[in-house]
Amino acid sequence: MKLYHAPASPFARKVTVLLHEAGASGRVTLVPASGTPLDPGTMPVDRNPLGKIPALERPEGPTLYDSRVITRYLDETLQAGLYPAAPRLWDTLVLEATADGIAEAAVLMRYEMHVRPEPVRSADWAEAQWQKIDRALDAVEARWMSHLSGPVDMGQIAIGCALGYLDFRFGDRDWQATRPALAAWHRAFAARPAMLATAPAA
Ligand code: BEZ
Repeated sequence: MKLYHAPASPFARKVTVLLHEAGASGRVTLVPASGTPLDPGTMPVDRNPLGKIPALERPEGPTLYDSRVITRYLDETLQAGLYPAAPRLWDTLVLEATADGIAEAAVLMRYEMHVRPEPVRSADWAEAQWQKIDRALDAVEARWMSHLSGPVDMGQIAIGCALGYLDFRFGDRDWQATRPALAAWHRAFAARPAMLATAPAA
């Protein structure tokens, strides 16, 4: 299998963390790809017409995207056990969706302030993305710490990748200051071998 991948992408990182946690990194070749909302770059649009990373090319069927489809597929194929049985599954999926929403808002901020042509950049629009992130982080601190302290699952991995991206691109925002429980969880989770092996890079 081939994974179209970018080392800064929190969505591609979810997939590579799953592979490491499952001891299956050798089953997938990472293919570097680049793309932004302005230009699909080297991401082959015949594989994913949306031009988005990650996408998983596999011998036995069409290329899979987006990250949540890929992680469900790999979890089942590798029997990784990162999506638990219901009813815990519903919590795992909501936590993963929350994490992906945080990462998506952060990536959109990054594009707005670094990719969109300077004369049409909107600081207000970018700040509205940060407000979404703020609300979602407050909700995780208030309601999700007991789930985060349970067995490792895709909800935890997605939160770890979203927080890793905030630290990578928005370290000056100091999201940890008002969320001590989530900050402590993140410090411990970031030390897992799968997280250390997949740290974001430019
Ligand atoms: C970034 O450089 O921040 C980035 C690159 C690819 C996907 C998402 C984010």
